[in-house]
Amino acid sequence: MTHTLIYPVHSAHNTVGHLEIDGCDVVSLARQYGTPLVIYEEKTLRDQCRRFVEAFRLRTAESEIIYASKALPIVALFQLVEEEGLSLDVASGGEYHTALAAGFPTERIFFHGNNKSPWELEYALQHGIGTVVVDSVDEMELLERLLQVRGARQRVLLRITPGIEAHTHEYIQTGQIDSKFGFGLAGGAALESIGRAMGSPSLDLWGLHAHIGSQIFELDSYRGEIRVLADLMREAKDRFGFDCRWLNAGGGLGVRYTPDDSPAPIDSYAEVVCRGVEEEMARVGLPMPRILIEPGRSVVAKAGVTAYTIGTVKQLPGIRTYVSVDGGMSDNIRPMLYGAKYEAMLANKVEQQPDTMVTVAGKHCESSDILARDVELPSPQVGDTLVIPATGAYCYAMASNYNGNLRPAVVMVEDGKARIIVERESFEDLVKRQRPLHG
Ligand SMILES: Cc1ncc(COP(=O)(O)O)c(C=O)c1O
Repeated sequence: MTHTLIYPVHSAHNTVGHLEIDGCDVVSLARQYGTPLVIYEEKTLRDQCRRFVEAFRLRTAESEIIYASKALPIVALFQLVEEEGLSLDVASGGEYHTALAAGFPTERIFFHGNNKSPWELEYALQHGIGTVVVDSVDEMELLERLLQVRGARQRVLLRITPGIEAHTHEYIQTGQIDSKFGFGLAGGAALESIGRAMGSPSLDLWGLHAHIGSQIFELDSYRGEIRVLADLMREAKDRFGFDCRWLNAGGGLGVRYTPDDSPAPIDSYAEVVCRGVEEEMARVGLPMPRILIEPGRSVVAKAGVTAYTIGTVKQLPGIRTYVSVDGGMSDNIRPMLYGAKYEAMLANKVEQQPDTMVTVAGKHCESSDILARDVELPSPQVGDTLVIPATGAYCYAMASNYNGNLRPAVVMVEDGKARIIVERESFEDLVKRQRPLHG
């Protein structure tokens, strides 16, 4: 294996020349469970959770690591992150339902979203949601009406749009805030929302939240975000006597998809966030809040790989070689959606030297259904097991049935044992909610 950093931690070559993940032969897994197959290494998942918890515990008195479930919202993972002491962020009634199915303690769930439907909020309240992250004035009013009917109170955070736009390698501060999410600073909307929530008969305002983007490499972006939030906290303290008990800096830490990526280590991220909050609180003369963060991608991306079977190899002399696999945009939309780059390897030929530059294509009826471009493989042939690493985040989560393809099975491996955590869909699943035209 050429680039170990983009594979689960316990990936290795075994004695028969195959890729194995924590003692499980990937070629055998592909045979046993079929392809496409999403494989997660349990130890890498737990390791990532522990790194986050430990990095923040070492640096600040009170912290809470909240797994952003959108990266992979499945029951077994929710149970794993709960065992590791993480809280959970959900962004829909469906993710909340999945958390309930996992038996996740509702007190530790945060409900996000810029347009939570009345039924979703009602469902969350009915089932004891811990914290609602309020995104707009309309939502605040809706939530108050629902609470009034229930005669209940609700802990809330307010989502602030700090005007920091994070890019992979830089950040900019935008004067004009153009985002569908949250309360902007322009025109005093954020400040007003704090006053509004504090005066509410049914909302308990515990703090502020911001999320500045995803796949962030430049940690300075977080420093900028915290500075803006600190100024707002000071203003709100002076105007309304607001005490910010919880400060949620959002998610976004970048991960390595290819060897060219160099994301910051979790420790450096924790250092920037914790030192940043400490310094900013000292600057504005406020006490330290509990620091909350919401990593999604960086918890799950590296732990997951997807195994496919090569079905065709098409050589276009002087142009390129297409290797087509039995999945594609329906199990990994990221290359199409964001131009995301991936590596690939052949799990049954790990000892062989790569000699053929190929484009890995999916099987869907779209020319742009390409999983990886210009990757070198060792003489790819029909029947080889092709593996794309770092597919643990936002791949299965965004899977679809396009072209009638079935969402893949998901297995978790540990110490040479594999177990199914999501069954592969069946043809029956595809049509079971459909009704005939007549009768
Ligand atoms: C509000 C919020 N929190 C956390 C996250 C997780 O981000 P990431 O997976 O990049 O860590 C997202 C992702 O979009 C988000 O919108």
